[in-house]
Amino acid sequence: MDAVLIAGDGIGPEIAESVGKVSEALNTGIHWRKFAAGAGYYEKSGALFEEGMTDAIKETGIALKGPTATPIGTGFRSINVQLRQMFHTYANLRPVHSIPGVKSRYENVDLVIVRENTEDLYKGLEYRVDDNTAHGIKLITRPASERIVRFAFDYASRNGRHKVTAVHKANIMKETDGLFLEAARNVAKEYPDIAFDSVIIDALCMKLVTDPTQFDVLVAPNLYGDIISDLCAGLVGGLGFAPSANIGDATVIYEAVHGSAPDIAGKGIANPTALLMAFEMLLRDHGMEDKADCLKAALEKALADPQAATPDIGGTGTTSVFTDAVIAGILENKR
Ligand code: NAI
Repeated sequence: MDAVLIAGDGIGPEIAESVGKVSEALNTGIHWRKFAAGAGYYEKSGALFEEGMTDAIKETGIALKGPTATPIGTGFRSINVQLRQMFHTYANLRPVHSIPGVKSRYENVDLVIVRENTEDLYKGLEYRVDDNTAHGIKLITRPASERIVRFAFDYASRNGRHKVTAVHKANIMKETDGLFLEAARNVAKEYPDIAFDSVIIDALCMKLVTDPTQFDVLVAPNLYGDIISDLCAGLVGGLGFAPSANIGDATVIYEAVHGSAPDIAGKGIANPTALLMAFEMLLRDHGMEDKADCLKAALEKALADPQAATPDIGGTGTTSVFTDAVIAGILENKR
């Protein structure tokens, strides 16, 4: 099977290398078509992606992507946002669960965030009215709202989940979030076997921090989905443990929720777990459940070893020491 591998910026190449090695140890047979993209590549070449990358994504339908940086205030449009719009990856699936051996605030978190990935304030419809005023358009449509809520319910029913909660601020944004909530309520009626409720985004943040176990599947417009993803990552040990999949009808782009971590780039201490967990999602989606299980077990073992774990979770390991520990776990499981 062919798949595209985009290393990206900052810690991207370090963690993408880890995935390549782990894929080999697992004997996945995946042939990675590697492409450069990101702010670093743009500086060198004046282009956002290497030629052939978008064709390769179209051909394979699968990409695993490292983080790409988006310089603030330079007119540089996020590569992630462009890829999501280009490949119509309308759903961003972000599972969040506690990991044995990883110290965190909670030990029993198990929820899934379904983030709408194509519209809302991410549409890029903003402009300066004058020196002191800027306008941004929050675009919410009924078709995109219904599609993402239906995705959340379908995901819930396929995966034995029991409740879908719609996230909004319709008390203030009566038209935009009001439309999202209305669409959610309508779609919910098609799924009588799955419970449905809704929560205002600010209350949700408080509830997530005090008791995240009350949530199962959260479905949210783009911006709220983005923000609560990082919050939820914080509940299970940090950004190093949050994978995601950008899902469209023909293409899935897997990535970590975190960014390019410029503060630690090049130091060899990045935690590759989130990208490896995104790779685990890829394996499961492509009929390689046994390999995904093997990777999961090896990850948990390496994370519980303070000499292998990276400094972000209190270990003394480096990216390559951690990767070697994961590979050792895989080889042990295979025996
Ligand atoms: P960030 O997620 O890169 O970093 C936030 C903090 O978490 C930093 O202290 C960083 O060292 C730490 N961190 C993140 N991932 C880590 C890992 N795997 N191992 C250990 N520590 C880790 O967020 P920040 O600094 O706001 O953004 C940096 C750049 O990344 C920006 O240009 C932003 O646009 C971009 N970005 C890209 C994303 C993507 O490509 N999917 C997502 C989010 C941000």
